[in-house]
Amino acid sequence: MRSSSGVALNRALLVTLSLLQYASGGLGVNSGVSNYSFPDDFIFGVASAAFQIEGAWNEGGKGESMWDTYIHKHPNYTVDRSNGDVAADSYHRFMDDIEMIKSIGVNYYRLSISWPRLLPNGMDNNISQEGMEYYRTLFEELLKANITPVVTLFHWDMPTPLMDLGGWANPKIVDYFEDYARVVFNLYGDIIKMWTTINEPHQQCYNGYGRNYFVPALMSGGVGDYLCTHYTLLSHARVYRMYEKEFKPYQKGQVAITLDAFWAEPKDPKRPEDVRAAEDYLQMHLAIYAHPIYSDVGDYPKFVRERVNNMSIQQGFSRSRLPYFSAEEIKALQGSSDFFALNHYTTFLMTPSLMEPDWEEPSWDQDTGVRMSQNLSWPRPGADWLTVNPPGFRKVINWISDNYRMLKKIPIIITENGMADWGQTDDYERVSYYNEYLNQVLLAMHEDGCNVKGYFSWTLMDDFEWIDGYSVKFGLFKVDFDDPEKKRTPKLSAHSFGNIARTHRIDFDYIKPPLNLNKLLLE
Ligand code: NOJ
Repeated sequence: MRSSSGVALNRALLVTLSLLQYASGGLGVNSGVSNYSFPDDFIFGVASAAFQIEGAWNEGGKGESMWDTYIHKHPNYTVDRSNGDVAADSYHRFMDDIEMIKSIGVNYYRLSISWPRLLPNGMDNNISQEGMEYYRTLFEELLKANITPVVTLFHWDMPTPLMDLGGWANPKIVDYFEDYARVVFNLYGDIIKMWTTINEPHQQCYNGYGRNYFVPALMSGGVGDYLCTHYTLLSHARVYRMYEKEFKPYQKGQVAITLDAFWAEPKDPKRPEDVRAAEDYLQMHLAIYAHPIYSDVGDYPKFVRERVNNMSIQQGFSRSRLPYFSAEEIKALQGSSDFFALNHYTTFLMTPSLMEPDWEEPSWDQDTGVRMSQNLSWPRPGADWLTVNPPGFRKVINWISDNYRMLKKIPIIITENGMADWGQTDDYERVSYYNEYLNQVLLAMHEDGCNVKGYFSWTLMDDFEWIDGYSVKFGLFKVDFDDPEKKRTPKLSAHSFGNIARTHRIDFDYIKPPLNLNKLLLE
């Protein structure tokens, strides 16, 4: 464990370094008001997820999620030995959350339903009355405040009894997810018109099934991660088609899956191997999910299919580690999204990896054949993995638009974008991050013709950041986790992001970092 004074000193140092990088390194270079503005009907919102904010882990008839069960059993799993038992206590304090959203001035809130809060054992034979009422009240209160809820069905908190059966690696999950979704659409489809099915399948399958960076920490590299990918996609398609047939004709809502995409930059743009590595990475990370849904031909991308098949053969498997879709499944997946929901945070540099095919156990990394690194001259204000590179955002939006013709007809909605730091309320770096990243969205729309229709900031308030616990903060509002009342305080970024959302323009001078950076550290 890191000592707390050491941590404080390191953080102070990182804040200085990071601010200096901002000042010197091409960030925060814009001034005045952006040349372009967001159209009147552009959606601005903030996002959150049930497990990260609700707490009340065993209240109101809720069953356990895999994160509850796993962390209780392995309290050292998170870097600060924390858990989601109380989190920001939004289960009890959601009216405060609504006030915060109103104060920012956005009209949309992306949030998720906790599957085990509604169905305590994951199955539809037992629906919790209190869970049912909780979400009804929450959605109605949001609507009364003129805030449109956008609801995610699954943001990583798999009911423990279903995880015990294999979670997303079990083919039966497709039925259980459909049953759960049908309960949700029946209960709330009259007032909820925008849904996303599953959040960031790459992160949950790679980190949770292939590695141990997320629960369920299965470490089934190159096998479990692809089973998860496969049945996640099929579950999404099943729910999309079920909604389309049973609910859409009268509820008239929209359904999509939320995909995460880092931007992949060649480490040396002049080296063809690095250019190739960057493209390979995007195929294995993003196109593996996007191609079956948005491409004209459907199915897994050719590159992914050939790569995993070849590697499987070389490693002595008698069948590919990547399962096959039937013709019917390919058809069900194709076009199964009413918008492209994109989460984006950061850029990595790519070069071919040195791993030989038989060098170690099978893994997604080995199949991908790419070594990822970070450009450390870019600011890294908090989480280890998150360097700030605004142009990567424009590039990833363009990559998606160029690769999937379907996006001429349906819009892209950014369902998450944001930055981690250590929690200071004078969060100048976050102010700059939102200014610069949103400016890239404007450029993608106005100069490149990309069809982006909405943007959600991640996240409304500081929360439980999975394996990082409460050690890094993404919020527009600070939450005092030591306070039993979980006091919420707006950060500078809440004001500046709110100003963009209200005016539909970026005023780069709205909040200026002080010139004397040292003073900041003494405060
Ligand atoms: C994406 C995930 O959806 C969210 O839960 C997480 O907190 C953010 N990334 C930041 O890591």
